[in-house]
Amino acid sequence: MPHKIALYPGDGIGPEVIAEAKKVLETLSLDISFTTFEWNTTLYAKTGRCAPEDFIDQLKPYDAILLGALGNKANAPEHLAVDPLLSIRKAFDQYVNVRPSINYPGIEIPLKERKPLAIDMVVIRENTEGEYTNLGGRHYAGMPQEAAMQISYFTRHGIERIARYAFETARKRPRKELVSITKSNALKYSMVFWDEVVAGIAKNYPDVKLTSQYVDAAAMNMVRFPEMFDVVVSSNLFGDILTDISAVVTGGIGFAGSGNLNPSRAFPSMFEPVHGSAPDIAGKGIANPIAAIMSSAMMCDFLGEKQAAKKIENAVVAHLTEGTVRTPDRGGSNSTVDVGNDIVKRLK
Ligand SMILES: NC(=O)c1ccc[n+]([C@@H]2O[C@H](COP(=O)([O-])OP(=O)(O)OC[C@H]3O[C@@H](n4cnc5c(N)ncnc54)[C@H](O)[C@@H]3O)[C@@H](O)[C@H]2O)c1
Repeated sequence: MPHKIALYPGDGIGPEVIAEAKKVLETLSLDISFTTFEWNTTLYAKTGRCAPEDFIDQLKPYDAILLGALGNKANAPEHLAVDPLLSIRKAFDQYVNVRPSINYPGIEIPLKERKPLAIDMVVIRENTEGEYTNLGGRHYAGMPQEAAMQISYFTRHGIERIARYAFETARKRPRKELVSITKSNALKYSMVFWDEVVAGIAKNYPDVKLTSQYVDAAAMNMVRFPEMFDVVVSSNLFGDILTDISAVVTGGIGFAGSGNLNPSRAFPSMFEPVHGSAPDIAGKGIANPIAAIMSSAMMCDFLGEKQAAKKIENAVVAHLTEGTVRTPDRGGSNSTVDVGNDIVKRLK
């Protein structure tokens, strides 16, 4: 059976980078079929919706979704544009968000004295609950006593399963270290609960060294000593913020791929670059496609195509190390297509 992939390029540079990821996947001898869904803010301008009403049902039969980026505030309100992404994560119970950050050779990073590959961390972010639940409300609109309430919602089930996934990830890596991100000194209910549940799961993983850091200290440490981190597990909001730091210290969001996983495989998982739709450079053909290509490698790995995943990663590393073909964000003058072609050439 071929792997059925739903391509969801989205807005701005999304279609440009997804085209290169598709080209890379097509170079490998994989049994794979693609269906492209043109859902974006242009559709909103025509229909008042950024995706059709039944978009979750349409995506359900696929093995995986490869998404570009959503959003263009010139065409649609931001919250409506990004809503399909959040709905997919919830509807398909993609409770694990995986974001690896490695300083590959050939990428300039802010901490210039760090040797290539000195930083190699993966952040496992809870993706379905915590601070990003749609619970809360606005009251007394426009009045002096106007109030807003946004509820964080943590469940034992939710924390246990993300902690288990993080421990399993750490167990497979040479260092076998896990840092749990908390703020239990200030958030006396949610984060104290988080710490307790993570500690409970730790009992099943005596081979993994668990430590804990407050989110503010972790933010500082990721900037100062990013090599300190091996695997990191965090709530939704904390992970969202920390992964921008982990991406930047390893070269920027143009390189960072990610996966939204449903490890049970009951529903499709989704892979996407960490960056957004970059309206400032959209249509110029200069977006860096590496994050999208690395996301496609993560997709291959999740689908069991381990060899293909490794081949893509090796080709990207060779491309970066040689460094002759570079988009403007890397100080070069090459196009998105040039980068895709160079990686394809290395795969052949
Ligand atoms: N997952 C998503 O779909 C997602 C994530 C973040 C932002 N967004 C949306 O994207 C739009 C723009 O948001 P933003 O400007 O805050 O973030 P952004 O990631 O789109 O852009 C930030 C900066 O990084 C640059 N950049 C991003 N990706 C790049 C790439 N691949 N190559 C070279 N340069 C790149 C952009 O040119 C811009 O200067 C908004 O509508 C936002 O809501 C979507």
